Amino acid sequence: MLLELRNVTKTYWSGVMRNKAFHAVKDVNLEIGEREIFGIIGESGSGKTTTCKIIMGLLKPTSGAVLYQGEDITKLGKAKWHELRKSIQMIFQHPQMTFNPRSTVYSACAEPIRIYKLAKDADEEREMVLGILDRVGVSRDQLEKYPHEISGGQAQRLSIARTLLLKPSLLICDEPTSMLDISVQAQILSLLKEIHGKENLTLLYISHNLDVVAAICDRIAVMKDGEIVEMGNTDEVFSSPKHDYTKRLLSARI
Ligand SMILES: Nc1ncnc2c1ncn2[C@@H]1O[C@H](COP(=O)(O)OP(=O)(O)O)[C@@H](O)[C@H]1O
Ligand SMILES: [Mg+2]
Repeated sequence: MLLELRNVTKTYWSGVMRNKAFHAVKDVNLEIGEREIFGIIGESGSGKTTTCKIIMGLLKPTSGAVLYQGEDITKLGKAKWHELRKSIQMIFQHPQMTFNPRSTVYSACAEPIRIYKLAKDADEEREMVLGILDRVGVSRDQLEKYPHEISGGQAQRLSIARTLLLKPSLLICDEPTSMLDISVQAQILSLLKEIHGKENLTLLYISHNLDVVAAICDRIAVMKDGEIVEMGNTDEVFSSPKHDYTKRLLSARI
């Protein structure tokens, strides 16, 4: 198993006495195998992003364990995470927000190469940047532009390029296409599928859009109010949903 979540809970406390508990994620268990494309669906506020952030080490769970290749990664320190970060990468709903507004497309792409010292000199760095941008379909006339000057689709391609440079084993995609036009959405999905076909990569794909999940995922989990209410092969869940909430989600499709 590549990734396992065991009884993962994230509780936030509110109220004057900090005594009102709210479970953003509640007792989540799941297992994702190597090379799988696993989807999590659920409406806004159901705990999807919180789950991703816990897996990424950006948030500590209140309780439970996250096993990556058998090791509990919730207890790792900064230095270990720096190394692990190459292996577990994430792309976000608003790619532009993850770029430094003063960095060009070129330097945004070169950033992971510099952080992880992947190139021996400037020439090799340039070669790597141009190669990976070609691969994901960012054209060369975008290189000197700033994040706000490129389209949402190009920005998402750029964020995919940056993750690929690190050759991750697990790529978490948190609603990466939900802000894009339908046609661009389809292009990004097919790019991710194409990359998954060629690389040794496992995808955790988060969406509130059932059609997107149906198009790309082998297995899915349905989240509601922080809990997984149903899990199974995508075809099975779509053709014979067990939980009322899943049935409602499916019948609300247009
Ligand atoms: N730092 C926080 N403090 C309190 N509540 C939070 C915090 N972060 C998220 N939440 C709440 O947790 C729930 C799940 O949020 P989130 O994981 O972002 O959902 P999703 O990604 O499915 O839309 C939401 O109700 C949200 O308001
Ligand atoms: Mg979210």
